[in-house]
Amino acid sequence: MGFHWDDLYREDDYERRIYLGDESMADYLETFLARFGPVDDVVSVGCGPGVVPFELAERYPDLPITGLDYAETIVADNRTLAAERGLENLSFAVDALPDLATDRRFDLVYCVATLFFVADAARAIESLYDLVRPGGYLVVNYPNEHTQEWAREADPEKRADFSLVAAGENTLSREEIESILNTDSHDYWEAVDADDEEFVSPDLPMVYVRR
Ligand SMILES: C[S@@+](CC[C@H](N)C(=O)[O-])C[C@H]1O[C@@H](n2cnc3c(N)ncnc32)[C@H](O)[C@@H]1O
Repeated sequence: MGFHWDDLYREDDYERRIYLGDESMADYLETFLARFGPVDDVVSVGCGPGVVPFELAERYPDLPITGLDYAETIVADNRTLAAERGLENLSFAVDALPDLATDRRFDLVYCVATLFFVADAARAIESLYDLVRPGGYLVVNYPNEHTQEWAREADPEKRADFSLVAAGENTLSREEIESILNTDSHDYWEAVDADDEEFVSPDLPMVYVRR
């Protein structure tokens, strides 16, 4: 089953919220860019309402930022909002993990709170890494064994929303990611000095990988 994102976004009053962490996620991404950039472009995969992409587009008016999501409604709503705000450096397109259709490449690929909903998370990791230009970075959050434990113990409604995670169907580990990509990964939270944040916990792992 899992969560039906398009149904949510078709509701008139859905919240344009950030799903993992809080508004400081944009500050942390800015810290990442200051430490590992500059970059020529950024893509957020599974961008949802795009809180971080919108914020980033305001802060870096010359940086092209793209949001990809498989839910057509949120892509259309995001386009409308970007036009209303005059954000010419911000664009959105429909695309779906695990096999993204785009043949574009980006310096920074950012994917947060999305692999929970993708059955073939291992293939999605490959696909996300393919999206990175050589010398660029993948920043990705993924479900691990702690996320699975959290989903199993969650209330029935949440457990249904996170059914793939609860069933352990898309569980990954740092070791698996490194083996799939054949390279080292690094802790994103530490890299951006977010490891003391309340929302950072073993069930919300986030890594960055250089290509
Ligand atoms: C929990 S929201 C995360 C939004 C945003 N990244 C954040 O952190 O606030 C998950 C998003 O992933 C999208 N999504 C789910 N499965 C997807 C897939 N297979 N391919 C692309 N997007 C997907 C959903 O439509 C939803 O907008």
